[in-house]
Amino acid sequence: MTKMLVTGGAGFIGANFVHYTLQNYPQYEVTVIDKLTYAGNPDNLASVLDKIEFVTGDISDRELIDKLVSETDIIVHFAAESHNDNSLSDPWPFVHSNLVGTASILEAVRKHNKRLHHVSTDEVYGDLELDDPAKFTPETPYKPSSPYSSTKAGSDLLVRAWVRSFGIHATISNCSNNYGPYQHIEKFIPRQITNILSGTKPKLYGTGENVRDWIHVDDHNNAVHYIIEKGRSGETYLIGADGEENNKYIIETILELMGKDKTDYEHVNDRPGHDLRYAIDATKLREELGWVPKYTNLREGLQATIDWYTANRSWWEAEKAKVEAAYAEKGQ
Ligand code: NAD
Ligand code: TYD
Repeated sequence: MTKMLVTGGAGFIGANFVHYTLQNYPQYEVTVIDKLTYAGNPDNLASVLDKIEFVTGDISDRELIDKLVSETDIIVHFAAESHNDNSLSDPWPFVHSNLVGTASILEAVRKHNKRLHHVSTDEVYGDLELDDPAKFTPETPYKPSSPYSSTKAGSDLLVRAWVRSFGIHATISNCSNNYGPYQHIEKFIPRQITNILSGTKPKLYGTGENVRDWIHVDDHNNAVHYIIEKGRSGETYLIGADGEENNKYIIETILELMGKDKTDYEHVNDRPGHDLRYAIDATKLREELGWVPKYTNLREGLQATIDWYTANRSWWEAEKAKVEAAYAEKGQ
């Protein structure tokens, strides 16, 4: 058995990663460390708690991280503050978790000579024009826009520096926007689905022309496993499934799939500094590692996600009023 430490395993992508790993990669013995912030929910792992070890803690707790890293073979690092809108209201938790937390993991990885995979985002590259023929590649210069994306960019640079200066064994992935089960309802797609389920209208920032490159969370996590198993140390792999759509199209499609009038949504205040377009060129991942996405039909993926939020109202209902009150204060 290989021992795997998953940071942020009670969050959206981390929890899906733990389920995906237990189902498809039985060679791993999984330990999760998670601070259980507002975004971490132990219920996400309730069905597998007897199969994993769960530690509640902060990745910036150097003593705790040193111990956990010393006891594992590989660290898959998801833990982060992850929501752009929150980073505009209060950047400090982002500096703490994304920068200080990552540095604490890197120091333990260096000391104990362990393998690290660092999970990051395409938002480190800034944004593209709508008609730009180029997509993000591993060579695109970093140009982050928000406190969220700049602290993720900083965390990537820390990893690269530890590889170059100390020769640690690490890989980095930068993935596009994920969707699927267990995503916090502050995020775009689950917010709109749960708005409709609660009898309120979806909320579109600005004109809705902003483009995101959507990928199902299982495809992201499958790609992370390819990189863990076949990726070259020190390399960065971009993960994306050619899922570019603008926000207006996504809201209209969700309304249509839920049997509503496609025009029944509200325009709300735009996000300050709102990135226009993200788009991933995943050629390196596909050609070097042989990865291909399984979810290539976004409508089907959205329908499955709608079905999950419809079937799991108790998972999100208690949080809904609080999340919407915070948005309402910003006119969103
Ligand atoms: P999330 O906010 O749903 O989950 C983050 C988890 O990390 C939570 O469980 C939280 O409790 C935990 N956490 C936060 N700070 C911590 C700390 N200091 N110590 C320990 N645990 C802490 O986020 P997500 O959407 O699952 O994203 C996971 C990772 O994937 C992040 O690194 C994010 O940057 C990256 N990513 C996300 C997307 C996306 O579309 N959501 C796309 C690309 C990359
Ligand atoms: P989000 O899920 O916050 O992800 P990110 O900022 O990492 O891309 O937002 C996705 C897109 O949806 C982004 O362009 C902002 C927009 N958006 C809305 O139009 N309405 C909303 O209620 C939210 C939360 C986001």
